[in-house]
Amino acid sequence: MTGLDAVIYDAAELVVGPTTDPTRGRPESPDAVLDRRQDAALAIVDDTVAAVGPTAAVTAEYPPENAATAIDATGQTVLPGFVDPHTHAVFAGDRSDEFAAKLRGKTYQEILAEGGGILRTVRAVRDATPETLVANLRHHLDVMLAHGTTTVEVKSGYGLDVDTERKLLAAIETAGQAHAIDVVPTFLGAHAVPEETDADAYVDSVVTDQLPAVADQGIAEFCDVFCDAGAFTVDQSRRVLEAGLEYGLAPKIHADEFERLGASQLAAEVGAVSADHLLQSSAADLDALREAGVTPVLLPGTAFGLGGEYADARQILDAGGSLALATDFNPNCHTRTMSFAIALACTGMGMTPAEATVAATRDAAAAIDRTDGTGTLHEGAPGDAIVVDAPSHVHVPYTPGENLVTTVLTGGDRVHG
Ligand code: NIG
Ligand code: FE
Repeated sequence: MTGLDAVIYDAAELVVGPTTDPTRGRPESPDAVLDRRQDAALAIVDDTVAAVGPTAAVTAEYPPENAATAIDATGQTVLPGFVDPHTHAVFAGDRSDEFAAKLRGKTYQEILAEGGGILRTVRAVRDATPETLVANLRHHLDVMLAHGTTTVEVKSGYGLDVDTERKLLAAIETAGQAHAIDVVPTFLGAHAVPEETDADAYVDSVVTDQLPAVADQGIAEFCDVFCDAGAFTVDQSRRVLEAGLEYGLAPKIHADEFERLGASQLAAEVGAVSADHLLQSSAADLDALREAGVTPVLLPGTAFGLGGEYADARQILDAGGSLALATDFNPNCHTRTMSFAIALACTGMGMTPAEATVAATRDAAAAIDRTDGTGTLHEGAPGDAIVVDAPSHVHVPYTPGENLVTTVLTGGDRVHG
């Protein structure tokens, strides 16, 4: 239907997006980073932001009484919907006992080497029906939406054979089609070496069996690989990403999470859309990513869960680069909310609330190649907006462990609250 979808007015603060200054450097104030307006309003027409500005001006042109949804945001903050550009949200089974084992001192890689971790989820997913996978994912998407996420990337990678990888991608498509969240599918066949084979033989099968079948299925947009100790080498990862490119799948890479194998350099070499984790990356690695235009994706929830060090966000930002935040939601990192990632980015990685807000919206959209204004509320951007029950964006990380999101709009439609 055409027409005035929504008007949100009298917002204490309305975050439009990042400022256009390309050399942000270390910010003296939030206003160096964020274009935010006080006493502001937003109008959404035909799924798209039509106007943003002072309440009097916006409501004169777009009267709230004519809108399908009118929201008085007095005392509240309006933000672009959060974008979560790295999740493994489609799976079956439960690994909460591994969390308990890790608290007793077991490492992630010890669990994987014993056939637990990813390999245990693979067994559960191979046994699961498509309906179970779709229902599980829908539930996770519902939680994410209620916490303000309006776009989410979801990876396959718990199948590790042609049929199960396709089953996962089909579940991502089915759950996404019926959901208000915009779901972006990624093929991660090279997530772990399955128990029945060795790494080189498995990479052969990813390249010659899985990729053609996945390309034929036509759902996946990206091809990802876990390039790390205990997973795939740089050469194996290069083979997978280059083959993915031949099938039109843009590369993404899990890089430098546990060991620094050279995965960031590979990301720069193949022109990856993003390089994710970066816990062990050197300054030269981070420079290479910036120079190659690869978006770094930092996953503070994973670092928090591993009880270790956080990635060096300040090194990236102080060099004039940008970065994205994501949840990495998976059975090993059971966090679905971008507000938690934002809070950890501030308290664990020294980012300001303004920087973390941009990293969870516009720059997160860049990490999944959404350059249509997603993650901003500029005129012409998709009408994905959230209302937060607090007077500024600072309150999101200032209030960890609570959901301040009262209302979520996607394409101008009220889909939560
Ligand atoms: O991004 N590091 C590899 N993959 C996931 C973990 C997946 C799992 O443990 O099930 C990650 O952290
Ligand atoms: Fe991951």
